[in-house]
Amino acid sequence: MAIVIKTAEEIAGMRVAGRLASEVLDFVAPHVKPGVTTGELDRLCHDYMTGVQHTVPAPLNYAPPGYRPFPKAICTSVNHQVCHGIPGDKALKNGDVLNIDVTVIKDGFHGDTSRMYFVGDPSIAARRLSDVTYDCMWLGIAQVRPGATIGDIGHAIQVHAERNGYSVVREFCGHGIGRKFHEEPQILHYGKPGTLEPLATGMIFTVEPMINAGRREIKELADGWTIVTKDHSLSAQWEHTVLVTDRGFEVMTLSAGSLAVPAFVQQRNEHAREQEHAPA
Ligand code: MF3
Ligand code: CO
Ligand code: CO
Repeated sequence: MAIVIKTAEEIAGMRVAGRLASEVLDFVAPHVKPGVTTGELDRLCHDYMTGVQHTVPAPLNYAPPGYRPFPKAICTSVNHQVCHGIPGDKALKNGDVLNIDVTVIKDGFHGDTSRMYFVGDPSIAARRLSDVTYDCMWLGIAQVRPGATIGDIGHAIQVHAERNGYSVVREFCGHGIGRKFHEEPQILHYGKPGTLEPLATGMIFTVEPMINAGRREIKELADGWTIVTKDHSLSAQWEHTVLVTDRGFEVMTLSAGSLAVPAFVQQRNEHAREQEHAPA
C-alpha cells in the first residue's frame, strides 16, 4: 500500500483529533505526582476522553498482528521502560520520569502524541535525557518539507542523540496516521541524508524518537507489550503528529500546555512561529 495523501477534509479532521490528543496530555499533567499509580492516570485520561471529549482511546483493545489486545487507554512508560508500558497499580515515586502516550480517535481520525513527565524532582541525568530527546524530535520535524526524505529526518535525530552520548532505539519508529492508527510510511529515527522515501505535501505521520541513555538494545516483557532497555538505562520519548505542507510542516498535536517550540525551529518555519506567538 502506498503512502496516503490526505484531502483537505481529512486534514481538517486530523487537526481536531491532534489537538484533542494533546489536550489529554495537558489534562493529566497536574495529576502526575508521587503516590499516584499509572492505573489511576489511565482511568483519569480514559474518563476525560470518553466523558468530556467524546473521543475513543485508540490503544484500548488495539491488537496488531502478533499482539494480544492492549488492555488500557494510554501507554505509561516509566524510567527504563522505552514504550508501550501498561498502566498498573504501582505508585510513582519522587524522581521517577515517565512518558505518557495518548492516541484519540475523533470522527474516525487519529491524533497521536506523547510527552515526558517528571514525578517530583528529576535527577540531572533524567532532565538532560528528556531535553535532548525533545530536541531530537524537533530536529527531525524541522527537516519536514516536500522533497526532503525520510532519511533526512532520521539522520537529524540520530546525529543529535549520539553527539550527546545517547543511542537511538531501532525496533520502533514513527508512522503514517489518519483513519488508521498505523499506516505507511515508517519514519525511522536514524538514517542517512537523502535516503528512503521523499516527502510530499499532504502526508501525515508521527515523529516519536525513543532515546536511551545507555545502549540501544531493548527487550519485551512477558506482558507482551512493555518494552524496556536491556541494560536498564533510562529511556525517553516525545511524539508529535506532523503534516507535510507546501512550505514545510504543520504540527497537528499542539495545545495550550505544549512545551515551547525550540528556537532553532522558529527560524525555519512559519507554522511553528505562529504557534510560538499564540497565547499560552
Ligand atoms: N501510541 C503508540 C505510538 O505512538 C502506539 C501504542 S500501541 C498500544 O505509535 F497499543 F500500545 F497502545
Ligand atoms: Co505513534
Ligand atoms: Co503514540
